[in-house]
Amino acid sequence: MTNRKILVTSALPYANGPIHIGHLVEYIQTDIWARFQKLRGHQCYYVCADDAHGTPIMLRAQKEGLTPETLIARFHTEHQADFADFAIGFDNYYSTHSDENQYLSNLIYKGLKDGGYIERRTIRQFYDPVEKMFLPDRFIRGECPKCGAKDQYGDSCEICSKTYNPTELKNPVSAISGAKPIEKESEHLFVNLSNFETMLQEWTGSGTLQPEVLHKIKEWFETGLQAWDISREAPYFGFEIPDEPGKYFYVWLDAPIGYMASFKNLCDKQQLDFDEFWGADSQAELYHFIGKDIIYFHTLFWPAMLSAGGFRKPTAVFVHGFLTVDGQKMSKSRGTFINARTYLNHLNPEYLRYYFAAKLSNGVDDIDLNLEDFLQRVNSDLVGKVVNIASRCAGFISKRFNGELASTLHDQGLYQELIDAGDNIAKAYEKRDYNKAVRDIMALADRANQYINEQKPWVIAKQADKEGDLQAVCSQGLNLFRVLMGYLAPILPLMTEQVETFLATSVSWQPAPLLGHKINVFKPLMRRVEQKQIDAMIAEAAKKDIVTSAKQQSEVKASSESEFIDYDEFSKIDLRIARIVKAEQVEGAHKLLHLVLDVGEEKPRSVFAGIKDAYAPEELTGRLTVMVANLAPRKMRFGVSEGMVLAAGPGKKEIFLVSPDEGAKPGMRVK
Ligand code: MSP
Ligand code: ZN
Repeated sequence: MTNRKILVTSALPYANGPIHIGHLVEYIQTDIWARFQKLRGHQCYYVCADDAHGTPIMLRAQKEGLTPETLIARFHTEHQADFADFAIGFDNYYSTHSDENQYLSNLIYKGLKDGGYIERRTIRQFYDPVEKMFLPDRFIRGECPKCGAKDQYGDSCEICSKTYNPTELKNPVSAISGAKPIEKESEHLFVNLSNFETMLQEWTGSGTLQPEVLHKIKEWFETGLQAWDISREAPYFGFEIPDEPGKYFYVWLDAPIGYMASFKNLCDKQQLDFDEFWGADSQAELYHFIGKDIIYFHTLFWPAMLSAGGFRKPTAVFVHGFLTVDGQKMSKSRGTFINARTYLNHLNPEYLRYYFAAKLSNGVDDIDLNLEDFLQRVNSDLVGKVVNIASRCAGFISKRFNGELASTLHDQGLYQELIDAGDNIAKAYEKRDYNKAVRDIMALADRANQYINEQKPWVIAKQADKEGDLQAVCSQGLNLFRVLMGYLAPILPLMTEQVETFLATSVSWQPAPLLGHKINVFKPLMRRVEQKQIDAMIAEAAKKDIVTSAKQQSEVKASSESEFIDYDEFSKIDLRIARIVKAEQVEGAHKLLHLVLDVGEEKPRSVFAGIKDAYAPEELTGRLTVMVANLAPRKMRFGVSEGMVLAAGPGKKEIFLVSPDEGAKPGMRVK
């Protein structure tokens, strides 16, 4: 097996919303593939970034009274925390709003311009006279020109599915200001895609795409390739186009270049050779994992941009389908629009990694998260089959043999059978046929369990003169378990780490048996999923929606009634005087300071507070404040926060810590 050089990407999530479990289909699919390649000894990098530009991001920031930079920084932190907690092992996670990306975007644009591929055209578009900006289709609402349905988007009707130009809408209004838009002319830059047709025909037809995707693309070739509008007028959050004052690159121009930019940033950090991966004659492999909604951008625009810029084209683009939950589109009101964080509040991330793996194929069909099936499968496969092998053997080894494994294999043939199965499992992973890999692995787990059932270590354990047999059988069981964990490692990286601690050795692909080796005491590796955890997650996801709609309603109604809580409710809150004994910066945190608080208990409390902009750590040391002492501990990215300090103010620099008069003693209860 030769050592391959591989660069893998997932599509860049927009920086104006949280990661949800639909996104996770893609990040988990890609992560499993990248981990598999690394496990097999290849040089593989997995990069991604936030997609930070465009009108929706600009408008959302405006609405929240933030600069776009602040908004995207907030989501950058949030996204990274979500991905880290799902064990998505990016080698780099960057942003399209970066110097590297601006540099590379300009470079590719220059290639397009010098190649004569850019055309200027004057177009008429809707313009919001109040906001003084051109309106993207999605920010215009009006009546469908075909069926007359009210309140439809500027590009298509949700009722009759007709697509049209926004100027065809009846009674159009700007979704931003509510004003009646006017039509206005402006000059835009277009890339003439038909210039690339020969190259695109060849590239798309050379085994780079799945058959279903190629089929779709043939249709696009037949309808004819359209010129692509790559410029937007100010105000726009993005990169200004060189020598075109007031014009910006359309977000979809610089978004895929973000793949290169993130990798460039990694190269600078790790002294890697950028050109080895992106140069026109690169021998490295390049793969993009994407959802089926963004095929056009990745299979037509992107190769055209790369070739005009003098770069290599992707080895393949891997397209997956969309996630449904219980057979339906994710829905806020049904509680099935589940954010990554909401899931994590209730369930182990590896349940979902396993479930998606068990469902994913290399096709573009949608994949369904059936919650009943999810519970069954995780419990019966992972807990009931895989973990069960270890838990049935480990106890005897530690209690009766001081943690020492036998020095020979009890059933060499069976061990070899599991090792040999690895080649086909590897083929399935390589082809992204994860459901096949999982089926094969579970069949092997059944074989291992069958072996234990036949050997009955619990019976041998009661027989006086069978010590050697007991050690041999349990050691065999644990060795089989270790082989299986090697195969599952790309899917279950967190459990793999625990297993490595338990077995005091590495988990690897097709390992040599572990003999005469001392292992550690077994700790439960994974708990069963319980229905009530799933229910609580759905309830939380549904509640989020109720909260938002109630908030929207109250904004409209401006209710005058105040809501009271009773004394009992108030008295549940344990407010205590606290002395800040230590305050320090948290590396990598934008808003947080780490505080160590004396609340009169033996052990000081460790708390993270979002007051970094308002206070320097030196100002805080020694100071008294008030804390909520019975807030449930919360695991944050930087550690566990064991309570909350009280402060007031709108945020940023304007935050004021509540300060009791001197004389108050740490631990006193506030009443
Ligand atoms: N920002 C663009 C991608 C730019 S890539 C140069 C974008 N962002 S996204 O946040 O909307 O989606 C990111 C990825 O998640 C896309 O590949 C998209 O197809 C995928 N998914 C988003 N929702 C999904 C589901 N419900 N199910 C499966 N994948 C989904 O598109
Ligand atoms: Zn219609």
